[in-house]
Amino acid sequence: MMMSQAEIPVIAIDGPVGSGKGTIARQVAEALGWHLLDSGALYRLTALAAIKRGIALDDDARLAELAAHLDARFGSDAEGGERIWLDEEDVTAAIRTEECGAGASAVAALSPVRDALLDLQRSFRKAPGLVADGRDMGSHVFMDAGLKVFLTASPQERAKRRYKQLNDKGIDVSLAALSRDIEERDRRDQERSVAPLRPAEDARELDSSNMSIEEVVSTVLDWAAGR
Ligand code: C5P
Repeated sequence: MMMSQAEIPVIAIDGPVGSGKGTIARQVAEALGWHLLDSGALYRLTALAAIKRGIALDDDARLAELAAHLDARFGSDAEGGERIWLDEEDVTAAIRTEECGAGASAVAALSPVRDALLDLQRSFRKAPGLVADGRDMGSHVFMDAGLKVFLTASPQERAKRRYKQLNDKGIDVSLAALSRDIEERDRRDQERSVAPLRPAEDARELDSSNMSIEEVVSTVLDWAAGR
C-alpha cells in the first residue's frame, strides 16, 4: 500500500557547523536504509549558482528564482562516494569550500530563498523514511518529524573537526581562520530573523564533544527505536 507523505517517518538532525550532523545523519540513514537530505548542500548550491552567474548574494528576488529552479542532482560515484551536480557539472568539491559555506549562510538569511527551497526539501521525504540534516529541519521544514535531534559540540571541538574534514579533502586552511569563520557563521545563523538556528521545542539535545561517532549514531538509533 502507498504511504501518504505524512506517514513517511522523518528523523531531523539539526545543529551548528562542525557538530558532526552530516556524518551522523549519513550513518543513521545507512543503518536504517532510509533516504538522506543534506539541506545545507541546497543552500551551498544556490550560493554557487549565484556566484557563477554574477548574482549578488543579497538580491532576494533573483536568488529565490534561482533556488526555485536549481538544476541539482545527487548521486554517487563508482566507489559509493557522494557526488553532486549543478547544471550537469560536478560540484562536489566546489560547494564544500569555506567561501561557498559563507555564501550559503548569506543566502540562507533571506526568507524568499528559504521559501523557494521548501518544496524541494520536502520532496526528499520518500518511503521508507528520511533522515534530514540541517539547521531548521525539526523547527520548520519537517515540524512533524517523529524524532528531532539537536546536535552540539564545544566550539573548539567543532573547529578541530572541521579542520580535519577539510584537510582530509586536501583543502588548506588555518585552524585560527577556521575558528573565526565558524564563529561568524554561527552568529549569523543564530541571529537571523528567519528560521534562526535553535533547537525545536520538542528536540532532544545531544552534546557530542566527548562522544565517538559510533556512540552518537547508536544513541540516535536508540532514540529512533523508542528506547
Ligand atoms: O550544513 P552546511 O554547513 O552545509 O550549511 C551551509 C549553510 O547553509 C549554513 O551555515 C546555514 O547558514 C545554511 N543552512 C540553513 N538551513 C539549513 C541548512 C543550512 O540555513 N537547513
